Amino acid sequence: MKVIVTSDYEQLSQQAARAVYNHISKHHSLNLGLATGSTPLGLYKELIQLHHANRLPLADLKTFNLDEYVGLSPQSPYSYRYYMNTHVFEPLGIPLEQTYIPRGDVGHLQQECDRYDRLIQQHGGIDVQILGVGVNGHIGFNEPGTSFNQHTHVVQLAPSTIEANAKHFPSKDEVPTQAITMGIASIMQAKHIYLLASGEKKAKAIQELLSSDVVTEQWPVTVLREHPQVTVMIDESIAQSVQDKVGVMNDR
Ligand code: GLP
Repeated sequence: MKVIVTSDYEQLSQQAARAVYNHISKHHSLNLGLATGSTPLGLYKELIQLHHANRLPLADLKTFNLDEYVGLSPQSPYSYRYYMNTHVFEPLGIPLEQTYIPRGDVGHLQQECDRYDRLIQQHGGIDVQILGVGVNGHIGFNEPGTSFNQHTHVVQLAPSTIEANAKHFPSKDEVPTQAITMGIASIMQAKHIYLLASGEKKAKAIQELLSSDVVTEQWPVTVLREHPQVTVMIDESIAQSVQDKVGVMNDR
């Protein structure tokens, strides 16, 4: 596991964007796994700027998102599809038919989960996966206690996740209580994973990942210790609490 410490969120976003830019430049038909939430917004903004300065080859790029809220249509301004179209796909000019996100507004949710897993397999799997992390250590929407063996599935959101994500909705009552998420098993199949975390609220989850030797379903993010190709990008505010471990993890 490689740990990169940046001075602040802006630098973290720039370095993450540069990494994604380099992957796409080298491998035009990349399958890129994308995340939502506030954390990757800076990465996306920087990537758009890099693309405008020096055009990326996007004709063969495919993107696969981690998750979507159950019950929201793609047109809902609170859906992850809407978020991705607005913040990423439209500004970069990626044709929407090259972008995949589970549908949360279908009648048969399990069929949708299976369809999504097949889709990822049919395209040869995810090459590069971007991840944020929840305050409780969730990745995608894999809440504490989720089995590491699961592929795409329906989850009940934890009260702390609903609380944390309420900032994106008019009120807490409007946050959906369920979501479809790629499972830990799906995420672990990605060839290279970048985990981005910024701000003290994420310190505990990053401590569990870097400072504890335990891999536990109670802290889903800890599963990344078992992946051969992970880059963890954190800013100073988090690094202070895991400083003694940063050098050690970099050597592994
Ligand atoms: C949501 C998303 C996760 C994301 C997390 C953290 O729950 N499903 O993929 O990592 O939020 O969000 P933020 O970056 O806003 O803290």
